[in-house]
This record gives sequence, structure tokens and C-alpha cells, in this order.
Amino acid sequence: MSETGAVMDVPVPPPTTIVIFGASGDLTQRKLIPALHTLDVEGRLPPKYAVIGVARSAFDDESFRAHLRAGVQEHARLIHPASDPRIESADAAWPRFASRLHYSRGDYDDPATYRSLARQMLELDEACETCGNHLFYLATPPQLYPVIVAQLGAARLNRQDPPATGQGFTRIIIEKPFGDDLPSARALNDQVHQVFDESQVYRIDHYLGKETVQNIMVFRFGNAIFEPLWNRNYVDHVQITVAESVGVEQRAGYYDAAGVLRDVFQNHLLQLLTLTAMEPPAAFNAKALRDEKVKVLQAIRPLRPDEAATQTARGQYRTYRDEPGVKPNSTTATYAAMRLNVDNWRWQGVPFYLRSGKLLSAKVTEIIVQFRAVPHQLFPQEGDQGPHANFLSFCIQPDEGMNLRFETKLPGAGMRTRSVEMGFHFGEEFGAAALPDAYERLLLDAMIGDASLFARADEIELSWQIIDPIQAAWDRGGEPIAGGWRAETAPPLEFYEKGAWGPPSADRLLAQSGRRWRLGCYRP
Ligand code: NDP
Ligand code: BG6
Repeated sequence: MSETGAVMDVPVPPPTTIVIFGASGDLTQRKLIPALHTLDVEGRLPPKYAVIGVARSAFDDESFRAHLRAGVQEHARLIHPASDPRIESADAAWPRFASRLHYSRGDYDDPATYRSLARQMLELDEACETCGNHLFYLATPPQLYPVIVAQLGAARLNRQDPPATGQGFTRIIIEKPFGDDLPSARALNDQVHQVFDESQVYRIDHYLGKETVQNIMVFRFGNAIFEPLWNRNYVDHVQITVAESVGVEQRAGYYDAAGVLRDVFQNHLLQLLTLTAMEPPAAFNAKALRDEKVKVLQAIRPLRPDEAATQTARGQYRTYRDEPGVKPNSTTATYAAMRLNVDNWRWQGVPFYLRSGKLLSAKVTEIIVQFRAVPHQLFPQEGDQGPHANFLSFCIQPDEGMNLRFETKLPGAGMRTRSVEMGFHFGEEFGAAALPDAYERLLLDAMIGDASLFARADEIELSWQIIDPIQAAWDRGGEPIAGGWRAETAPPLEFYEKGAWGPPSADRLLAQSGRRWRLGCYRP
């Protein structure tokens, strides 16, 4: 660690001007600025950098800074770093940090906004010596992405000068959702590529910025003992759970049109699947890593409409239709579960079960790698839940870590066994404040120019190719018909109660093959 607490093996990014579009919004106040603030307090940002917020709201620099300070106080990770005297206190850092923040008011489709922005960027480049390094961040609703990209191109703010020297770079971070199906994602990729080269584009999926998600790769490829087991010979199946205890909150307008498949399966869940299933990359760099992830996505067998009826489950929390902004007869799923198959040598015949929903019993994200049971049961086991097979759980959140479940002998006479756990928890090992927020990592990587933890154009399109047939089957079968649902394409949309783990059909999906959902880290 440096005197300011910065970890020395991570390069400090070059001086940069960060331009956030939609900077009056929730993401900027709750995530982006608190993340930059923490990076600043930790001494990870360059000595010269600037942030320009662009939006239509009536802020000036001072009121913008006051609005952002409230977000920092509520959400920044290192707001009270008194426990570490090497780290500057947030209050002491605020005047310096605030002086980096600027506001530029304008309409997103007005060329004058970009002329004025270009002038401001030039002034900051000169005054702040940011060497013409520019990072744009699209934090607006997605329908504005093409508008802003086109305007940036028209204003020639897309240029890199000179390219490939690492100085004078221009990059653009694009938030999710990236399209709402394959055609719209392709169209958006085309629009972006008319203005920016793919090497300039950073499509964010904040799950990839989570420390425990990156640790999946370290666990698999930094240890020799697990990889030999990581295949169809030893793994029975894999489960990935992204459970949320909150409902749609203030985002009903977006969510009712999107639903759970587009909101979290196309991105977060499929990203978790690729990291669990991929082959070891030849090196840890953006190309090698993303090439391997793409191979997994190519190997996932898209579900046929008849399979969508039997290999997926969908639900809606009972009070969803009462949420402000939700259509009274909405058939949008707030819960989904599915079985996917990865058709390659490593995973042939090993089902990957994915589930996610809102207003469930708890917020918990876990990956379970369920190993096969022993071929011949020598010892009697405690309980009556069938053969106890070993499993490994990656606890992505909230209690970040991992657990390995195995059998041990019950003390005393006889040879009865019981399942016990061996666990590792980041908090116990490294301290509660050690885990950075995902946006800290991702903003830093984009400034450094490391796209490893961002989605490439082909990853996005392949993910939609997996999700679209399911969504289409559900949409076709989504309207109630006499006697129920169009059972040939869609499972019934079942209501579930707040605090449940989803609808009963999700349990039946696994029960078909004698399996059940499990959580290895979550403790009620
Ligand atoms: P907001 O809805 O808060 O919108 C951001 C800003 O965009 C608003 O403050 C507003 O600024 C402008 N805006 C909103 N609606 C319109 C409109 N119809 N026309 C023109 N301008 C509009 O979004 P968030 O900050 O929550 O999210 C930004 C992006 O990040 C979205 O794409 C979202 O999906 C994504 N995202 C957000 C997450 C979060 O936690 N918030 C998590 C993951 C992704 P003004 O009126 O001042 O111009
Ligand atoms: C976002 C989804 O991408 O991820 C939200 O749009 C969801 O609906 C959120 O709540 C979950 O993220 P996290 O980090 O809280 O698990």
C-alpha cells in the first residue's frame, strides 16, 4: 500500500476528463460520484482529473456539487475511514474533490450542448492538464444512447488524438440495458460503431466489477486443486441465484416493459454463467478473457418454444400490479427460473439452473457447483434428504466468500455421517471495508484502458440470442386463454408472495430431475 492507501500493483490512471451524461440522475448520485470519491480518498486517481456532468436540470456548479455531496455522504464506501489513518477523511477531502466537479446544462439532442461541452473540455484539458484524455459515460435512459453517440460524433468529440499512444484517448462507457432484444442491440452496436471504434467502447455490467465475481476466475485458475473436478465427470449441475428482497421501487416504468429476463438474465446471470463455465484463458487480458466467454455463450443451446414451456418457470409478486406505473393487467415476470445446457466437451449433460426474482425472502447472490454423489454409499447418513453430495458455493453477496460442503463422521459409535462446511469469508480475512464497490473498479479500469471486465459487442448479441427465444415464447403464451395459458410455449405466470423464494413451478423445474434449489452461504 502507498501512504494514501492505494494498492501499488494497480497503475494510477492518466489525467482524464470524465463526462457523465444524465448526471442529475440516480446512478450518478448513488453510485458513480461516491465511487470516484472513494477512489480519490484512497489516492487511486491521477493528480489531475475533472468530472463534467451534463443534463437538462437547472444546476450550476455549486448546486450540482451540493446534490452530489448528499450522495457521497449516504453511499460512499470510505466516508468514515477513521479506522485507517493512512486514508484522508472524507470531510477533509471534500473541498478538493468538489473542485473537480463541473456542470454543463443542455438538451441531449441539441448540437449547442456539445459545442459548449467541447469548449469546457478544452479549457479543462488546458487548465487541468488532462492531456486530451476523455471518458464519456452514458448514464441516461437507454433511448438517449444513440442520440448522444451521434451528437458526440457530429461534434467530433469521438476523436482520439493521436490514436494508440495511450495519450489523448477517447472512450465511452455505456450503461445497461444495451438493447432490449437482439435486433435492437445490433442496431445500437451499429450506431455506436459508426462513431466509435470497438476498442473505445466499454459496455458496463456492474456484476463484473464485484470483487467476488472476479474471484471466480482466481478460484478456478489461481488454484490447481479444483480445476480437475470442474467438468461433466464430477459436476452434477450448477445453480445460479440472484435473489432480491426489494420490489421494482421507483423503476416500474422501465421494469414493466423489460421484465426479469431482460433486466438481469441477459446480463448479470449469463455473465456469472460464462465465468463459471469458461475454459482457462491463455492470458488475463480483455481479448483472451472475452474470447473464452464468447465460446461459452456460443455453446449454450437456445431453448425451442416447446422447451420454454417445460424448462423455464415464471412468476410475478402478488402486489406487483398495485405498484405505481405498472399496468393493472401486466403479465411482466418479476421472477424467472430456467434450465440451460452448455453443449461442449466440458459440460455436456450438466444442467445450469438460473433463477432470479424481486421481493424474495432475502438479497442473496450465489453460485452452487453441485458435485456428483459418491458412486456407492458405504456409510449411513444423517437426515432423509437423499444422498449427500458435496457442493461448493460462491457467495457473491451479501456475505462474500465461499463454502465447501462435505461429509464427516458423526463422533461416537457407528459410521453415520453428517454434512459440514468449510468456509472462507472476505470480511473475516480482509476486514469489512475491504471490498470495493463494483463501480470503483470499473471506472478505474476504463480510465486505465482495461476492458476485461466490460462486455464486448459479440457477447451482448449472443446473450440476446439466448434470451430472445424465451421472451418470445413467453410473450406468445403470455395472454390468458380459456382454461389457462398457451402451455405449448409458456409456463404459467404464477403469483408468489413477498418473502417467498419464488413460485412453486420453480421448484418443480428442478424436481423433474430429482434436484432442489439450495443456498450454501445464506443464513436466515
Ligand atoms: P435516471 O432515470 O435517474 O435518468 C438519468 C437522467 O437522465 C435524469 O436525471 C434526467 O436528467 C435524464 N432523463 C431521464 N429521463 C429522460 C427522458 N425521458 N428524456 C431525457 N432525459 C431524461 O436514470 P439512472 O441514473 O437511474 O440510470 C441511468 C442509466 O443507468 C439507465 O440506463 C439505467 O438503466 C442504468 N442503470 C442504473 C442503475 C441505478 O442503480 N440507477 C443500475 C444499473 C443500470 P435531466 O432531466 O436533468 O436531463
Ligand atoms: C440492475 C437491475 O442491473 O441490477 C436491477 O436493473 C437490480 O433491477 C440490480 O436490482 C441488482 O444489482 P445488485 O448489485 O444490487 O445485485
